[in-house]
Amino acid sequence: MATRRAKISIIGAGNVGATCAHWAAAKELGDIVLLEIPERADFAKGKALDLACCGPVEGFDTNIVGTSDYKDIAGSDVVVITAGMPRKPGMSRDDLININVKIVKDVSEKIRQHAPDSIVIVVSNPLDAMVYTAWKVTGFPTHRVMGQAGALDVARYKEFLAMELKCSVEDISALLLGGHGDDMVPLPRLTSVSGIPILDLLPEATVKACVERAKVGGGEIVKLMGTSAYYAPASGTIQMVEAIVKDKKRIIPSAAYCENEFGVAPGAKGKGYFVGVPAMLGSNGIEKIVTFKMTPDEQKLMDESVSHVKDLVGKVVELFPELA
Ligand code: NAI
Ligand code: 2OP
Repeated sequence: MATRRAKISIIGAGNVGATCAHWAAAKELGDIVLLEIPERADFAKGKALDLACCGPVEGFDTNIVGTSDYKDIAGSDVVVITAGMPRKPGMSRDDLININVKIVKDVSEKIRQHAPDSIVIVVSNPLDAMVYTAWKVTGFPTHRVMGQAGALDVARYKEFLAMELKCSVEDISALLLGGHGDDMVPLPRLTSVSGIPILDLLPEATVKACVERAKVGGGEIVKLMGTSAYYAPASGTIQMVEAIVKDKKRIIPSAAYCENEFGVAPGAKGKGYFVGVPAMLGSNGIEKIVTFKMTPDEQKLMDESVSHVKDLVGKVVELFPELA
């Protein structure tokens, strides 16, 4: 029986991109293309070769190609966009918009041309506005464009809770919603440890402190390292890729297109926004947005977070009116 390996292309072979390739290879999810700007084609080739040489040790049979030629992404099942500038100490994710929107726009044009049937996962920041940009430029249906943020934010939240509880991270189930920013929406009400509500196990103030740490978790690492995180961001991204290429139907918080879900009202042109919501991921991309009733307090926080996403999309449209 002929089976076909999945093809995963990663645009940008920097910290997040190369680490995505690492996780994808280690999990043997498919063949990998690491694409860079022409000036850094050799860097991408070197990364690809170095990683490929782990195959005999780790036991993965995966073709890994470094390139700057977009023809190499043809036939990709999934394309991950990590191209763009990361933040430096003192910068917010939003400060990156002017530089990264041009990069994501350019990359998305090439994806539309060379991998028109792919599913696109955006990682570049400011995330929610960059997903919108990729959607507008590729013209792909909304179920084939999404952003990674929630998988990372939830992982950080779970890790901080596990540190408090001194229990396995595997037993924690949690959800966060909203944009990828310091105004993401915490949901302690829906956090549990092997089914036990978290508020029965930890004081509310401790849970709140974990949420607050998750909100600024990216900034904490930027301060420590001088550049932004990449192990956990890449791990979260590859969790999404795995759900897609294995058609797992996992429900992972992802930046997904909403028009009426969770109170996300369409904008002036009747178009929705990409915000972090629980999404079922399978071989068709976003197969379903899983909705539930929020409390009035949660809805208020969600509204604030969405309003921030709308402002960022407004900035994209100011810079490139054709993306309205
Ligand atoms: P990095 O600087 O290590 O790598 C970025 C790479 O993109 C560089 O190698 C650069 O040459 C490449 N690049 C720039 N323009 C390109 C183009 N037009 N085509 C192809 N490649 C291009 O940065 P890092 O740490 O990998 O971060 C990448 C992006 O991901 C940043 O915008 C960062 O803010 C974002 N990020 C998002 C996270 C999330 O959870 N959504 C988490 C961590 C980072
Ligand atoms: C993070 O949260 C910078 O978005 C990146 O680490």
